[in-house]
Amino acid sequence: MQHLLNLPSDDIREVSEFKETFFISTAIDYPSSKPHLGHAYEKISTDVIARFKRLQGYDVHFSTGTDEHGIKMQRKAEEAGKSPGQFVDEMQEHFRGLCKALDISYDDFIRTTEQRHEKAVLAVYNAVKKRGDIYKGTYTGKYCVECETFYTDSEAPDGICPTHKKPLEIVEEESYFFRMGRYQKALIAHIKKNKSFIIPESRRNEILSRLEEPLHDLSISRKTFKWGIPLPDNSKHVMYVWMDALVNYLSSIGYPARAYRKYWPAVHVIGKDIVWHHTVIWGSILLSAGISLPKTVLVHGFVNVGGEKMSKSRGTVIDPVHIKKKYSSDYLRFFLAREIPFGEDGDFSEEALVDRVNNELIANYGNLFYRATHFAVQNFDGKIPKGKMGNDERYIASLMKKTKKSAEEHMENYRIDLALKDILNLASETNKYFQKKKPWAADRKDAASCIYTSLNALRTITLLLSPYIPDASAKALRALGTTPGRWKDADSFALKTGTKISAVMLFKKIDEEELRKKEKEVPVQAEKPERGSALTGGKYVKLEDFQRLDIRTGTVVDVKDHPNADKLLLLKVDIGGEVRQLVAGLKGIYDKKQLMGKQVVILANLEPAKLRGETSEGMLLACDDGTLLTPEKKVKDGLKVR
Ligand code: MSP
Repeated sequence: MQHLLNLPSDDIREVSEFKETFFISTAIDYPSSKPHLGHAYEKISTDVIARFKRLQGYDVHFSTGTDEHGIKMQRKAEEAGKSPGQFVDEMQEHFRGLCKALDISYDDFIRTTEQRHEKAVLAVYNAVKKRGDIYKGTYTGKYCVECETFYTDSEAPDGICPTHKKPLEIVEEESYFFRMGRYQKALIAHIKKNKSFIIPESRRNEILSRLEEPLHDLSISRKTFKWGIPLPDNSKHVMYVWMDALVNYLSSIGYPARAYRKYWPAVHVIGKDIVWHHTVIWGSILLSAGISLPKTVLVHGFVNVGGEKMSKSRGTVIDPVHIKKKYSSDYLRFFLAREIPFGEDGDFSEEALVDRVNNELIANYGNLFYRATHFAVQNFDGKIPKGKMGNDERYIASLMKKTKKSAEEHMENYRIDLALKDILNLASETNKYFQKKKPWAADRKDAASCIYTSLNALRTITLLLSPYIPDASAKALRALGTTPGRWKDADSFALKTGTKISAVMLFKKIDEEELRKKEKEVPVQAEKPERGSALTGGKYVKLEDFQRLDIRTGTVVDVKDHPNADKLLLLKVDIGGEVRQLVAGLKGIYDKKQLMGKQVVILANLEPAKLRGETSEGMLLACDDGTLLTPEKKVKDGLKVR
């Protein structure tokens, strides 16, 4: 009943009649563009925890949704030539689609434009007002529309948004304020007392150190645009988008009706950029409204690409739905949970996904599953044979128990990555056991013991893996003739002798060659780069495609007119010991003298071609206007350019 500990004492009696509950939420996403891999990562991690808690027997409420108000959405709608309402109606579908594509088992998808949400926002506002925490004043500040946040001079001394690197807008307007400053002491005390209020500890320390500075009151209304919830006191003002959005966690569980107490307080899963909003802003709103604070604000890191934040202008925004279609939901879920140490940043690449899925999921768990079930079908009439427990079997049995325990501990600390690592270790130990026992060469009794033990271990592994790979796990449990069951029984030898099973190949190894062929038909990035970007209009290539180009430095050692063409020159270029003849359309742009001895950059593995009777063994790299690319300083000839 851990969740009850956070409730004020007068609440305890009221909720004690309920079954144990667990409320977990993702942030609600801005539907200003389509979802990207970061959104997917947050939903997958949250889903893994929600599924784990359900297996533990909790009555789970898992909420996700979209944050649809604010000036950003209003502007995006204008750009799209739509009303804000129509725009968000259409865009939120992509986020629902993402949940469906990735098997996200949410219980509620909340939109901030829904009536039930507006009702909750007004109720919270009124509670805060009743406390005397709302007043009218004037706000002047630097505002980032992208993150819908004001920045102080110390946070953005150069007037540039620290997250989006765009100039902040100066906003001065009449505004209603929330007396957030009042709650500074209470917040510090709460954070210090409750170690699990902010996880991981590094984020907790960051917030505590920011709270050493004076906490200012918060402007909570805007007059300059309309797309939001009007303030009950003054309909010329709309509610600040964060004051509106944060309340989604309460509207999702029925606030202001008292029933909300069944699930409150929550575990909020969020990214590292919005910790302040969820701890300090949300915390003080709740304190003011007399509602207990969230149980935990669980902060994950960012999914990067090539070590950097995904970026529209660089064309590195990954569309998770495309990745799911190319691989599978289970593969993407498995990869993200395994690859990224929860709480830290991690990198996404398809190469790493293929590697982990092929080697850690398929070669380890998938193969064992097939070998053991297939052997049982071939040799034991598709029934679980009777097994005996020897030393090796007892080792596997004890590892099953140990793994269930350690995975559970990691899960309780929300380290989904570490739990998964332990589960995979059980799979590889069981593989080793299978390999050692060689049931195909053993006598029937020993083979039976091996199959009995392996299949039972596979049931344990499957159950523990089910929060990560729900699709394959469901198939696997059916093949083992069993049902999902409970986490607490996951480590027992629950598969009884005589149970009918079937042989199943759960996964298909990812064949990169086959994928490359398919890939030609679909661009990798579903998101187009922003207008004005260097990539506009181009067809996307994969990094491997670029890496296939052999681009090298070279020096022009001879220049002649092409005998049969007015505009072409014949050049000899030394690319580090090898001299290539190149035909180039440089006449009238460079004269021969300028070119002699010049260091250039050439594409060296272009198929040779005859141009007006002369062979060209490569291509000089130049800008559209004919300006040649040249290294900034003299370098060795034949150096590879990447
Ligand atoms: N609408 C606000 C949240 C309001 S919650 C009351 C918002 N939306 S968002 O669409 O920008 O981000 C939604 C979630 O995705 C946030 O938790 C954010 O940290 C997370 N991510 C955004 N980019 C991310 C990555 N590249 N990687 C992982 N998660 C990241 O903020």
